[in-house]
Amino acid sequence: MPSDLLIRNAELVVPEGDPWVGDVLLRDGRIAQIGQHLPLEGVARVIDAEGHTLMPGVIDPQVHFREPGREHKEDLQTGSWACARGGVTSFLEMPNTDPPTIDQRALDDKLARAASKCVVNYGFFIGATADNLKELQRVQGACGIKIFMGSQHGPLLVDDPLVLERIFAETDPNFVIAVHAEDHARIQARRALFAGRTDVAVHSLIQDEEAALIASRRALDLATRYRHRLHILHLSTGLEVELLRQHKPAWVSAEVTPQHLLLSTADYARLGSLVQMNPPLRDAANLAQLWQGLQEGILDCIATDHAPHTLQEKAQPYPHSPSGMPGVETALPLMLTAAQQGRCSLHQVVQWMCEAPARLYGIPNKGRLQVGYDADLVLVDRRTPKPVRREELLTKCGWSPFEGWELVGWPLLTIVGGQIVFQNGQVDPSVRGQALTFLR
Ligand code: DOR
Repeated sequence: MPSDLLIRNAELVVPEGDPWVGDVLLRDGRIAQIGQHLPLEGVARVIDAEGHTLMPGVIDPQVHFREPGREHKEDLQTGSWACARGGVTSFLEMPNTDPPTIDQRALDDKLARAASKCVVNYGFFIGATADNLKELQRVQGACGIKIFMGSQHGPLLVDDPLVLERIFAETDPNFVIAVHAEDHARIQARRALFAGRTDVAVHSLIQDEEAALIASRRALDLATRYRHRLHILHLSTGLEVELLRQHKPAWVSAEVTPQHLLLSTADYARLGSLVQMNPPLRDAANLAQLWQGLQEGILDCIATDHAPHTLQEKAQPYPHSPSGMPGVETALPLMLTAAQQGRCSLHQVVQWMCEAPARLYGIPNKGRLQVGYDADLVLVDRRTPKPVRREELLTKCGWSPFEGWELVGWPLLTIVGGQIVFQNGQVDPSVRGQALTFLR
């Protein structure tokens, strides 16, 4: 039985040069051929993609899928379905589950769960605690070490400078340390300062720009001193962009989320705690500096920080409302809409959302529309605007801060390892993704 799949007449976003219209042949889970008028003989399935754009599948390097422990918000199955709908063919998931992913056993448990139910490819972080250095040193199969320097409770909070230093000093310097950079002490002090204020806009004042800068600077200093690979997660301020503009060693990278690029503190008035997240939204001047940082290459990639909470949980009054918002279904259309508006190019979107995450985490053979690469692809419609609709969302939390936004670039077809996982608005739940590998 031939398993080949031929996608014809698509606008192809290839790594070098302008996109061009052509055909792509997929065989045995790989991109076998790219060209014009490829022969149809022996091909099991042909898809005419005329008028649409074929690009590598998105690699989302920061999601929270809540399994195990908080599956009422999301689980690995629903999270992966939402990925398929959003054109995300691989994700890296964070350790703040219950139990937290802080040892080999918890990591292996997540990998086994994912193998049984994820329709896209997956990788998992191991979380640092005050006393799991040995686990961080010997763990196998994790994409990186996640450190919450602030805005976290329980074992995953690492705010002791000595513990932090030992993690940088005594783990493999090529193993990515990904930091949530917000200074815990400053946040605590400012929480006391603003005690009594219950409007959610105060969130951006409590967890202010300085709190982010202090933590990013500390992580950058340690990474510089120990020549340790460092990735600064969801960077949110112009101050941090400037910090990295002054000094960014080759082994340091940074990411930004679509919500930090597109939503601001002005949105609290409309959306309240739905847009409460950590690090918080900033003002318009910061947004402009984040875009500038992306354009200059100071910020390397885009992650969604998909962090679902139910509407009921979000409805609690601040500060009891939880931080975080979903994102895997909207990130690619948001960025392709930004490209259509001239804020960036199509090629940059592919660099930031596909190529860069693969490079930064050492994921071989992914992130490029190129012969020999894995057949993880997404075909998008860049011409037809369509609103974000709550009833179409597949994330279990069932809402989006972008509801009503008219976006282009919605996925028509998502392919994982040569298998069609999303088409005609439907996920094929029988498809299985694979565990990603990470080269150091
Ligand atoms: O807003 C956030 N929510 N930021 C994080 O870093 C964690 C996340 C969550 O897990 O809800």
